[in-house]
Amino acid sequence: MRDIEESPGATLRLRDWYDRHARVLPWRVCPGDRAAGVMPDPYRVWLSEIMLQQTTVAAVKDYFHRFTTRWPDVVALAAAEDAEVMAEWAGLGYYARARNLLKGARAVVTDHGGRFPQTRDGLLTLPGVGPYTAAAVAAIAFDEPATVVDGNVERVVARLFRVETPLPAAKPELTRLAAILTPPQRPGDHAQAMMDLGATICTPRNPACGLCPLVHDCEARRAGAQAELPRKAPKAEKPVREGTLWIAHRADGSVLLETRPEKGMLGGMLGWPGTDWDRSGGPSGAPLVADWQDTGVEVRHTFTHFHLRLTVLLAEVPDTADPLRGRFIPRATFRPAALPTLMRKAWNVAAAAIGHPNGGGRLA
Ligand code: ADE
Repeated sequence: MRDIEESPGATLRLRDWYDRHARVLPWRVCPGDRAAGVMPDPYRVWLSEIMLQQTTVAAVKDYFHRFTTRWPDVVALAAAEDAEVMAEWAGLGYYARARNLLKGARAVVTDHGGRFPQTRDGLLTLPGVGPYTAAAVAAIAFDEPATVVDGNVERVVARLFRVETPLPAAKPELTRLAAILTPPQRPGDHAQAMMDLGATICTPRNPACGLCPLVHDCEARRAGAQAELPRKAPKAEKPVREGTLWIAHRADGSVLLETRPEKGMLGGMLGWPGTDWDRSGGPSGAPLVADWQDTGVEVRHTFTHFHLRLTVLLAEVPDTADPLRGRFIPRATFRPAALPTLMRKAWNVAAAAIGHPNGGGRLA
């Protein structure tokens, strides 16, 4: 691929491949329609890009469907209750995205008359929109020839140009090379073609080089090095953090939940009252004086930077119990699906122990 600057052949081969093999995705205008001038809805593109950060297409699809059914445009989303949006996001993770989503929607309505800014620089002014999302929305929704580099694109480019520098140090070089590939025509489809190629053919393990439209352009393939690229600097071991959760339930089936503070992990989400996750204060700070029983099951969950182990304590409390924090949610309105995955895991432990009818259920 060293001669790419003289030969746009690879970019054209990629686009032909995309025209035939583009994934059908609910936020996407298929390449045939796009070539005929149909533009995607910027709201759907923006929403999908926020949801897809750190998350796979498979995990996002149902959430995208529910969000767009309930809030079909940015004006509707901007008017939504925070708690409703957080509950709908539950299970998707990285909850700061949901808080920023709302801020972003409200900024579009209050500062831009309900219309998304149409340039990368304009999009960058929205809360929650960083360089990647701004470039992706500008390219896909407005056909600005912005360079879009996510993990899939990094892998494709590292292999195509046989970049041996490990990530993350290689990022600037990969971005520069991705920019060389970006064409002035249909840059949005080009960006999506790069992503689709990375997701379906140029996969991390066992890339399907025999099906790849760029097989003859690929330096890594020529050297038989495709499986080793991109190189990655070794990651630091994740520390283990620990804490306690208290799950109080009443005979009428109501359960004690609290909305977590905006700042911090799972900020703004509903959860069981708990300690900080550093064990510094021991299991003190229970929301109620009660006969707390240890379920004996430790809930484990891994976040980006640490593993978490939580002890789940359980108590049945009288209907008159007056909690120091949180509020009792009646059985009829308690929706385990509105809890983030960690809190769902804890609930599954508790519900099994007490035989609560709202127990169990699929974890995202
Ligand atoms: N991953 C992130 N954004 C995407 C998009 N627009 N299409 C396919 N995969 C993606």
